[in-house]
Amino acid sequence: MVPVLAIDGPTASGKGTVAGLVAERLGWHFLDSGAIYRVLALAAIKRGVGLTDEAALAAQASALDVAFERGAILLEGEDVSLQARREETGNSASKIAALPAVRTALLERQQAFRVAPGLVADGRDMGSVVFPGAFLKIFLTASVESRAERRYKQLIAKGSTASIDDLLRDLRERDARDTSRLVAPLRPCEDAVLLDTTTLSIDEAVHFVLNLAMQRGAGQAA
Ligand code: CDP
Ligand code: CDP
Repeated sequence: MVPVLAIDGPTASGKGTVAGLVAERLGWHFLDSGAIYRVLALAAIKRGVGLTDEAALAAQASALDVAFERGAILLEGEDVSLQARREETGNSASKIAALPAVRTALLERQQAFRVAPGLVADGRDMGSVVFPGAFLKIFLTASVESRAERRYKQLIAKGSTASIDDLLRDLRERDARDTSRLVAPLRPCEDAVLLDTTTLSIDEAVHFVLNLAMQRGAGQAA
């Protein structure tokens, strides 16, 4: 069976950055599952589908034409990376992600990323629902204040304007929605290893995850 390393956690905990670097080091594929929810939100907005219309969103999810090419996110062949990465798209994604039929419609699509020699997958339910057999499950966390500060720096570096207070409010709102939803709520699985990155650098977090992966035999598979 192709090995999967699952990295779940709240927004701006560093999942994407750490998962991408770990995948690169292992020479494995990488799934940014949040990008699929983000692209679905963009597709819905583009077609005028309401973000609470579960049946229409699920139908759209089943037919979603999303692809990842050289770091770019494509919707129907069009590069939508910039729109997909916006905070408001993340918030819309979080709303549609609470709908059970949407999650079901996206399940197999995410599982199809499990391709040899291995997959590093990041999201909210990688270890709990999508890849319950993952050989290593990491739950990344960090204090909400440090996550807001990280997002702030990220946005400023991109030339956007941002306010720490607005970011803190949005992060808290998104955390609350993601942890309280009925299907696949954000929480560590029993067999997940918790990693608090509040005071860790990216390199330290990557090192920690790679060490554990190697201890569990990932080096031989890579
Ligand atoms: O994918 P997720 O939303 O969990 O977070 P990310 O986009 O990977 O990381 C958010 C920001 O935090 C990025 O700018 C990372 O470089 C930064 N970061 C950090 O400063 N320290 C860490 N230990 C992890 C991430
Ligand atoms: O990078 P960040 O953590 O801010 O967000 P993301 O991973 O791109 O995910 C955007 C939203 O999609 C999250 O707030 C979740 O509500 C949802 N999501 C999910 O429900 N399940 C996943 N496996 C990934 C994302």
